[in-house]
Amino acid sequence: MAKTGKPKEMEGEVYYPSEQVIAQARLKDWDALAEKAGKDLEGFWADEANELEWYKKWDKVLDDSNKPFYKWFVGAKTNIIHNAIDRHLKTHRKNQLALIWESEDGKTERTFSYFAMNREVSRMANIIKAMGVQKGERVTIYMGRVPEIVFAMMACAKIGAIHSVVFGGFSVDSLQGRIDDSNSKLVITCDGSYQNGKIVELKAIVDESIKRCPSVENVIVVKRVGNPVVMESGRDHWYQDLCALPIANGKCVTEVMDAEDPLFILYTSGSTGKPKAILHTHGGYMVGTYSTLKYVFDVNDEDRWWCTADPGWITGHSYLVYGPMINGVTTFMFEGGPSYPYPNRWWQCIERYGITIFYTAPTAIRGLMRFGESWPNKHDLSSLRLLGTVGEPINPEAWKWYHRVIGKETKPIIDTWWQTETGSFMITPTPVVPLKPGSGTRPFFGQEAEIVDEEGNPVPDNTEGYLTLKNPWPAMLRTIYGDDERYVKQYWSKFPGRYTTGDSAKRDSDGYYWIIGRVDDVIKVSGHRLGTAEVESALVSHPAVAEAAAIGLPHDVKGQAIHTFVMLRTGFSPSAELAEELRQHVSTHMGPIARPEDVKFVDKLPKTRSGKIMRRVLKARAQGLPEGDISTLEE
Ligand code: WT7
Repeated sequence: MAKTGKPKEMEGEVYYPSEQVIAQARLKDWDALAEKAGKDLEGFWADEANELEWYKKWDKVLDDSNKPFYKWFVGAKTNIIHNAIDRHLKTHRKNQLALIWESEDGKTERTFSYFAMNREVSRMANIIKAMGVQKGERVTIYMGRVPEIVFAMMACAKIGAIHSVVFGGFSVDSLQGRIDDSNSKLVITCDGSYQNGKIVELKAIVDESIKRCPSVENVIVVKRVGNPVVMESGRDHWYQDLCALPIANGKCVTEVMDAEDPLFILYTSGSTGKPKAILHTHGGYMVGTYSTLKYVFDVNDEDRWWCTADPGWITGHSYLVYGPMINGVTTFMFEGGPSYPYPNRWWQCIERYGITIFYTAPTAIRGLMRFGESWPNKHDLSSLRLLGTVGEPINPEAWKWYHRVIGKETKPIIDTWWQTETGSFMITPTPVVPLKPGSGTRPFFGQEAEIVDEEGNPVPDNTEGYLTLKNPWPAMLRTIYGDDERYVKQYWSKFPGRYTTGDSAKRDSDGYYWIIGRVDDVIKVSGHRLGTAEVESALVSHPAVAEAAAIGLPHDVKGQAIHTFVMLRTGFSPSAELAEELRQHVSTHMGPIARPEDVKFVDKLPKTRSGKIMRRVLKARAQGLPEGDISTLEE
């Protein structure tokens, strides 16, 4: 990217694609395709779907007769695994690498061709079937970043079971709630996982969680770490032992699914109450992740793609597992984090594996930036062709560092805005789109975003408002699993006829979107989505706590950090020890990512007359900002 050769005048600081980037790009004319998709949404998506294989094609591309319960590729038969694995076995891709994995300590490398993926996924699929899991039933997956987590997800999909991956950084309460809500019969886990050289005892957390989950009949345990674990006979099975059984052969027929059959649920935090199970389906999600990755990151068979997200988040589902494999690229997965044992760990992997496209989060970039340029500069990063970011707004300073130090000022930075609910990229450039640091540019083909005020009226350019999406898209969530009413209320009621994102944003005069942040009680800690309600219930579960409030405040590296306010029960008094104990309590119950930055003891909390905690007021006070409209504040 160079600031020269302006094709058209734009406002603000603009980075135009270089001639080389344009020459390489698969899609050169962004405007033409955007216009085509804008005029014929169904035609655009039908063309995309036609690039994939179907057991039977659709009768109708989009059925919007029962809004907001949209259906895509109605009447079609498919299975996402058919396109992510099976179809590649008939082509040159059969012997290409699907997955490269490196252990945290760098001592082990495992690679799987598409042929080998088929064998491993089939094997796991046969084992899951042998555990009595049937089409449509839920399987909870709670593992570290090892190849078997990918096999487990894909194996469920292959047999038509619904996977529910719970991030391996969550702890007992979060896991238990998710197993229970999904009514899973089977849990797939590891003995432990590595995190910065330490062992996280996943199996022990599973044991503790399922004490209160009567639905669980079997637990499959992948041996990774070798830490001592308790195996309950009849219920717990070592994966490696199961693999030796005759049923665990590498042949399994892929189940024929309706396009609208559920593929997975993934829990995410909302504004109130417990996490919501976002439901995605085989057909639409398959087309959406395929098409977005193809255009946005321009992937091809020679690429070595690295998405640093954990499979436990939507980014891992869509762009570590499904999107890349449907596109037939080689995916790299790294077990560890960016700075263990040294802050060059990621740059070392890029050099070692010749990564061509690198997709990460602003929090990681900010964190690595602090260690200085000498770490990346030790490594040959010249294999890189494109860089990407996701999860929260990227501050221009971090964008520029990423562009200059990692991208050597020649690689476009693809800032992708989307959500667990959207399943695929929604606001994003492609490599030929001029970039502005901090903006995800414009909506993807076929989408229209509109920023509106409280009443739903579009606001003028450069004015903050609610970000809404006007058109349905194939990878959209279908519902909140088991709670259609909440789905309608949460996403389609505030502004009827459009999807409410929960974000506030601005649009500039070039039509570029600038995300400001969440408008609800969702906190983004290091790009991870957490609900204030979950942190508060964890605090209140401690015997000393009567009431609690959690808010997110700006943090240099994490983006936002959790700050809490606690009212104690009578008989308890504030102390530094108690504050520390409460922070630890949240960490033990929810997971280390939810550990509050601080705990402040208060005598009362600002509340509305109807008793709702006014977090907005706490936030303003903490930052020394005006408290805004406090007319509903109780005396
Ligand atoms: C929320 C969704 C799906 C990606 C991982 C997060 C924020 C996401 C961006 C971006 C500014 C972003 C939004 C959104 N967000 N990407 N490129 N720029 N903000 O998925 O956990 O469901 O969170 O993440 O606030 O609503 P998620």
